[in-house]
Amino acid sequence: MHDSNDQHELADVTAPSSRAVQLRDDLLPNGQLPKDIVATEALGICRDLVDAELDRLTDFPEEPQALGRNCPAELKKAIRYSLLAPGKRLRPAMTLLATEACGGAISSALPAACAVEMIHTYSLIHDDLPAMDDDDLRRGMPTSHRVFGEAQAILAGDALLALAFQTVAQVQPEEVAARCTATLALTAGPEALVGGQVDDLAAEKLGAHTAEQLEAIHARKTAAMFAVSAKLGAMIAQAPDKQIDALEQYGFALGLAFQITDDLLDVHGKEAKVGKRVGKDSQRGKLTYPGLLGEEESRRRAETWINDACNQLRQLEYPPRLEALAKAVLERDH
Ligand code: IPE
Ligand code: IPE
Ligand code: MG
Ligand code: MG
Ligand code: MG
Repeated sequence: MHDSNDQHELADVTAPSSRAVQLRDDLLPNGQLPKDIVATEALGICRDLVDAELDRLTDFPEEPQALGRNCPAELKKAIRYSLLAPGKRLRPAMTLLATEACGGAISSALPAACAVEMIHTYSLIHDDLPAMDDDDLRRGMPTSHRVFGEAQAILAGDALLALAFQTVAQVQPEEVAARCTATLALTAGPEALVGGQVDDLAAEKLGAHTAEQLEAIHARKTAAMFAVSAKLGAMIAQAPDKQIDALEQYGFALGLAFQITDDLLDVHGKEAKVGKRVGKDSQRGKLTYPGLLGEEESRRRAETWINDACNQLRQLEYPPRLEALAKAVLERDH
């Protein structure tokens, strides 16, 4: 499994940087992004902020520190290999932009945004394992278990899950951190993300399927994480319940559309663009919208979910960037 030829990929992503603080100071006067920048640029800034903060948060000491704190070098490499790889950072961007849309300071949402991305990345590492989807390419790079072996990949995922909760617990004030932590735990757990992954694998083996079954799987394995990403942003801005609910619904609808477009990209996407193997779903007999309802109907359903998502944004003070993000999901090629 362990392929030493892949090690060169580590070079870009393991060097620590101090961009986080600099980005926060340069780009966020009063904790907000300037209103005159276009949505795509705002998304790019969110991605840079999250990347820099993830880098900082995983720059663990390798040598023993006071109290014996340190992280084994191989584990650190495996964590950073997957986490700092070029993901789209859509979920953490939603968290930051949801805070902004409710009038909060973007920087206050960074711990929650990073926590969401850590859970997402752990779920991808485990999703790719031979016991699950058995994939060898992720984010344009060999999957974690292909580079580090299965045991390290499993453990890197475990570490990211724990680190996510350590990170979200840093939200201020503490009462908000407690609520965010509980909400995120519910979403990462058996009733949402993990339950959805179990259903997804079970559906590969079952014969008869309905669109309702498929939607229930997508709701848990994918839409729940999108919903919580937006919801946490609103909670951190201490927005009224109406706005928190609207953003949760927005994220949920967006997540359902996102998984449909993921399944469509598995049919028509270009491997070099999507950064993962294509044609895998039909090869594995996975239950997907294009497989069940055809491509045209799948696209129509994704459009309907995006419209539903955008309708939720009427409740907010500053929604244009979240609206642009929703529309980008429909047009995405990666
Ligand atoms: C992939 O998510 C997993 C799904 C829920 C379909 P993304 O397409 O957001 O993956 P990255 O984070 O950009 O790699
Ligand atoms: C992934 O769904 C959902 C989670 C990782 C929770 P897929 O299995 O379709 O995602 P990809 O296509 O491997 O990214
Ligand atoms: Mg899967
Ligand atoms: Mg998969
Ligand atoms: Mg997929």
